[in-house]
Amino acid sequence: MESAGKLVRSGADQSVNRPNSRRPSEAPRERLQSLPHELRLERLAGWTGVPRDDVDTLVTPEALPFETADRMIENAVGVLGLPLGVALGVRVNGIDRVVPMAVEEPSVVAAQSLASGIVRRAGGFEAGSDAPHMLGQIQLVGVADPQAARARLAEVAPSILAEADAVHPNMARRGGGARRLEVRSLPETACGPMLVVHLVVDVGDAMGANAVNSMVEAVAPRVQAAVGGQVRLRILSNLADQRLARARASIPVHLLGGGRFDGAEVADRIHEAWAFADADPYRATTHNKGIMNGVDAVAIATGNDWRGIEAGAHAYAARTGHYRPLSAWEVRDGRLVGTIELPMAVGIVGGNLELNPRARLALRLLGVRSGRELAEVMAAVGLAQNLAALRALVTDGIQRGHMALHARGLAAAAGAPPDLCETLVVRLVESGEIKLAKAQELLATLQAQGEMR
Ligand code: MEV
Repeated sequence: MESAGKLVRSGADQSVNRPNSRRPSEAPRERLQSLPHELRLERLAGWTGVPRDDVDTLVTPEALPFETADRMIENAVGVLGLPLGVALGVRVNGIDRVVPMAVEEPSVVAAQSLASGIVRRAGGFEAGSDAPHMLGQIQLVGVADPQAARARLAEVAPSILAEADAVHPNMARRGGGARRLEVRSLPETACGPMLVVHLVVDVGDAMGANAVNSMVEAVAPRVQAAVGGQVRLRILSNLADQRLARARASIPVHLLGGGRFDGAEVADRIHEAWAFADADPYRATTHNKGIMNGVDAVAIATGNDWRGIEAGAHAYAARTGHYRPLSAWEVRDGRLVGTIELPMAVGIVGGNLELNPRARLALRLLGVRSGRELAEVMAAVGLAQNLAALRALVTDGIQRGHMALHARGLAAAAGAPPDLCETLVVRLVESGEIKLAKAQELLATLQAQGEMR
C-alpha cells in the first residue's frame, strides 16, 4: 500500500492483505431499500453465502435473549433495539463485502454504500494492518532508580513473558502471546515520578482486553520484585498504537461529479475541507465523528468494544499534541487520494461475542476470516464515511440527504398507514418543514382528501 503521507507510520509489521478467493468479487447492484423485507433477506443470503435459515434469524423478535443479557451485565432489566442495516459493494483488497452496520442515525448506511460505490468504480479500497499487538500497563511508584530498573527488567524479561504466556497457553499455542516489555519513565507527574512497564501481547483474533488484563495482573508481583517500588494499576491501554489499521482510495476526479457539480471542483473542495480539519480542532472533531459513524456501526454490529475504539481513535488523532483528522485527502494527477490510519482493537472471537448470536451472524455476513481482516474493512468503512460526508458538505450540504430519511421517520411517528407513507414523505420534504407537527398536519389533510374521494 502506498504511504498515506504524514498520517501513515511505516513499520515492519504492516501488511496489506491479499484478496480472499472464498467470495465472489461481484457487488450486488440492486437497491435493497426498494425491496420488501422478505426479499432483502433472500438477497442477503444469496450475496453472502450464509444459509437462508440463519439469515432468517435476523427477524426473530428477540435479538438477544434476556437470559443471555442477564449473564452479560448486572441489574439487567431488558434488551435495547437498534436498526441493523447492510452497506453493499464495499470492495476492500479486491473483495466485495456486505457490511453490517448497527446505527440509529439516518443516512450512515446509505452514505456508506454511495461512497463505497464511487471507490469501487475506481478499483476499491486497499487496506492493511499491523499485527494485533495490545499493550498492558503496570504502574509503579517509589522506584528508587529508574535507570537500574530498566536494566534489571531487561534481564528478567524472558521469565516475565513466560509467566504471562502461562496465563493464556492457548493464545501462545495459536501463535500469539506476550512479545516484549517496554519501560516508560514519567519523571514529573502530579504525584511524583512513576515508572510504567508495558507488556506487549499479540492477542491474535481477539480484541484482547481480558487476556491482557489477566496477564498484567499475573506478572505484576514479579515486575515489582525486579524493580522495587510498589505496583499500582495493572490494566490494558486503549491507545492501541501498535495495532493500527489503514486504508487508501484513489479516485479519478470525474467519478466525484454529479448534478451541477464538476468532479475536479468537488475533489479540490474535499482537499480544502480536509485542510480546514487539519488546521482546526473544532472541525477535526466533527470530521472524525463522521469517520467513527461508520467504524462504530460495524463495531456494534460485530459485537466489538466501540468505546475502546473511540478512545483509541481520538487519542491517536491527538498524538502530535494537536487534535488532527484521522484521514487525509489530496488531489494528485487527476485523482482524489484519501488515506486513513487509526488504532483498531477489534476481534472475531472471545468474550461477549460468543454470547451474542446476532454479532456472530454479522461476522458471517461480512465474511472476514481474522481480526485483522475485520480491522482493515473497518478502516475502509471509516474512509468511505468521511468521503461521503465531505462530498455532501462541499456540494449540496448534509441536510438534503438527511431530511428525506428523517421525513420517513416522522411519517411513521405521525402514524401514517403504509399506503400514505410515501406521499406524506414527499409532501413533508416539499414543505421544507421536517417536523412532527407538520407531518401530523399533512397526514390529516391527506386522510381528509382520501375520505372526500
Ligand atoms: C454527522 O453525523 C457527521 C458529519 O458531521 C461528518 C462531517 O461533518 O464530516 C456529517
